[in-house]
Amino acid sequence: MSDLPDALATLLGPAGLLTDPADIAPALSDWRGLYRGAALAVLRPASTQQVADCVRICAEAGIAIVPQGGNTSMVGGATPEGNGRSVVLSLARLNRIRDLDPLDMTMTAEAGVVVKTAQDAAADSGCLFPLSFGGEGTAMIGGILSTNAGGNTTVRYGNARELMLGLEVVLPDGQVWNGLRRLRKDNTGYALRHLFVGAEGTLGIITAATLRLFARPRVNEVLFCSVADEDAALAVFRRFRDVDETAIRAFEYMSGRGVDFAVKHIPGVSWPLSKRADHTILIDLASTRADADLQGLAEQVLGAAMEAGEVIDAVIGGSEARRQALWRIREEHPEAQRKEGASVKNDVSVPVSKVPELIRRASAACESLIPGIRPVPFGHMGDGNIHMNLEQPVGMDPEAFLARSHDIMDTVNDVVRDLDGSFSAEHGIGRLKTDMMEAWRGGAELATMQRIKAALDPRGVMNPGKVLP
Ligand code: MLT
Ligand code: ZN
Repeated sequence: MSDLPDALATLLGPAGLLTDPADIAPALSDWRGLYRGAALAVLRPASTQQVADCVRICAEAGIAIVPQGGNTSMVGGATPEGNGRSVVLSLARLNRIRDLDPLDMTMTAEAGVVVKTAQDAAADSGCLFPLSFGGEGTAMIGGILSTNAGGNTTVRYGNARELMLGLEVVLPDGQVWNGLRRLRKDNTGYALRHLFVGAEGTLGIITAATLRLFARPRVNEVLFCSVADEDAALAVFRRFRDVDETAIRAFEYMSGRGVDFAVKHIPGVSWPLSKRADHTILIDLASTRADADLQGLAEQVLGAAMEAGEVIDAVIGGSEARRQALWRIREEHPEAQRKEGASVKNDVSVPVSKVPELIRRASAACESLIPGIRPVPFGHMGDGNIHMNLEQPVGMDPEAFLARSHDIMDTVNDVVRDLDGSFSAEHGIGRLKTDMMEAWRGGAELATMQRIKAALDPRGVMNPGKVLP
């Protein structure tokens, strides 16, 4: 506390500066419980100018700044290091939607706007903000851009990066860069805005963003199917794409074991098919045309897939309540895995064509590494991003299992590398994966990243210990 410049208290007032250990404790750890850090204070600026002043004061005092939004990082990206020479800078009070234009189809939202709030605001104006994932009720706009979040609808609308037209950023020296342009075409030199997306707060702090909106779907249907195997799941994806690519809003794979865990641990969740199966898919179809026949599309494609032996059984939602119940089976996967015991997450991607091979080979490799380990692959098959998660063997000591985390991740990553994939698809690098950067991105790529970091943040005050080794 004594190291904290007095200027911060003057600038922020009591509502904007937390130093009591009990008040700052929630900001010092991640929701997965992987890390616990230390900080001099939590700063809660209420405007972009206050963010800029905080950054300038801290940078001059040599205090590091850890930006934090909803604190839902899967990789410790918003957790401070343990040395206590940093502050957490919360964006939660920058929570205004500054502008929403249904003709331009843009929304300018501050970093602390919760994703769900942005979705609702778009819907109220007859538009769609399509980014959607389990943490959307807590995660904030600044965080989803800083990590380039993906989620369930990447197959249709792209990742956070593709939804961003412009940014407002506080740079590491305290300058404010206003790049909130809402243009679909703007070729004026280096696209600086893209540098900050996925940088996880290591190059500056995103304080606001201009986001793309889309036409609101007027009809929607959700299908849940059991399929013969992983190849059959992919074959069904291809069938839907061939008939109507634009109708696929999400295409998700779940192992039977993953569904079993959801049924076992989540009240109200049950197998939606008459028979349990080892492989399942959830398909979300949507159209902006009120007269689109999604049920007909589903029957046509599933009929052919059943004849080919790809689909074993299927249910069509049919009502909003049923559609939500089917989605819940998928969305509760992380929580069900947490309740089942210790698990190791592997957020990886491969070319879509290689997803079946990834699931089979990574599962087999982990089963040879730790007998009894339980692979629970699930996720965004339609964009090649599978959560190749591994649950501890029944009866094994959770700590002993977690002590093998790095062996497990290396085992999965060996397969991912062989299939031309990536060791982090949508969760980012954070603290968890910095030590993998050299092996995966070493050489010219990592060296260029380090030169960019040195040029923008020569004092190394922005979110140290994240992204770069
Ligand atoms: C999800 O898609 O549910 C999360 O990104 C997955 C996870 O828990 O690894
Ligand atoms: Zn995911």
